Amino acid sequence: MKISALVLGLAACALSATAFADSPIVIKFSHVVAVDTPKGMAAEFFKKRAEELTKGKVKVEVYANSTLYKDKEEMEALQLGAVQMLAPSLAKFGPLGVKEFEVFDLPYIFDSYPELHKVTQGPIGQSLLKKLEPKGILGLAFWDNGFKSFSANSPIRTPADLKGKKMRIQSSKVLEEEMRTIGALPQVMAFSEVYQALQTGVVDGTENPISNLYTQKMHEVQKYLTLTDHGYLGYAVIVNKKFWDGLPADVRAQLETAMKESTVYANKIAKDQNDKDLESVKKSGKTQVYVPTKEERQAFKKALVPVYLKMESRIGKDLIDSIHKETGFDPAKL
Ligand code: LMR
Repeated sequence: MKISALVLGLAACALSATAFADSPIVIKFSHVVAVDTPKGMAAEFFKKRAEELTKGKVKVEVYANSTLYKDKEEMEALQLGAVQMLAPSLAKFGPLGVKEFEVFDLPYIFDSYPELHKVTQGPIGQSLLKKLEPKGILGLAFWDNGFKSFSANSPIRTPADLKGKKMRIQSSKVLEEEMRTIGALPQVMAFSEVYQALQTGVVDGTENPISNLYTQKMHEVQKYLTLTDHGYLGYAVIVNKKFWDGLPADVRAQLETAMKESTVYANKIAKDQNDKDLESVKKSGKTQVYVPTKEERQAFKKALVPVYLKMESRIGKDLIDSIHKETGFDPAKL
């Protein structure tokens, strides 16, 4: 009796070991934007390449559009190991205690994608990702989205047009200061709630790269969009460190290759996707798209540059200076 129980037990163990060996490693990749955005498409690309390169040893489950977690929850879920991979916007790392990421939120810090890439694809980017490790997080890559523009239900020609307006922002102290500096009232809100908040008037306006505005249909509830391009929005692809370090070495190497390819892909499609979505917004006729003149652009720059000084102690003067050195931007010369 005892022996047969032991045999049965051993057989069960053997069976579960086989089942374990055969069942794929699952990577849950959660994000908050639509599938047809730069991040959404890059996440699908990573899934495809990861599954191909590991020959099915890894299965990537992508959960788009906040279907699994919203902004704040997803960070907690990653640290607890409930999901393995995320790509939060760089504006969302402050609450985690890594304030340096908010440097990307400084107004006009980058004028173009090539300028930005000097930082994200170079040593400054690498040293920023390293700062995540004490939080149990590994930073694998930077993925682009694009440059943000202001929208509201009244025309925006000058910074004063946003005075007193309730503006939705991501959870970044730099963005909070950006809005306060022009006299607007910043309201931190999860991305999944923005459309409804705009529709019901809980907030008056917001700032977005066009791909996010269009795919969330915000242009249907914002009468005016001014192409200010006053700030950057992009992502860090991050994983739970314990999970990643615990992967078989060959699988990890294959996933690293998949991530490298996905990063090239993400950063190749981001601009096109935003340009394409801008055309769709214009075609929809639901919002008036305004291109500011050179002088109007300069007025926004001048109004927003005080944010640099105000945020220096939070982000670190050295970091800000090192980025200015890469890009050649000197806010003092405005
Ligand atoms: C936002 O909250 O506006 C963005 O961070 C959403 C995203 O992931 O692009």
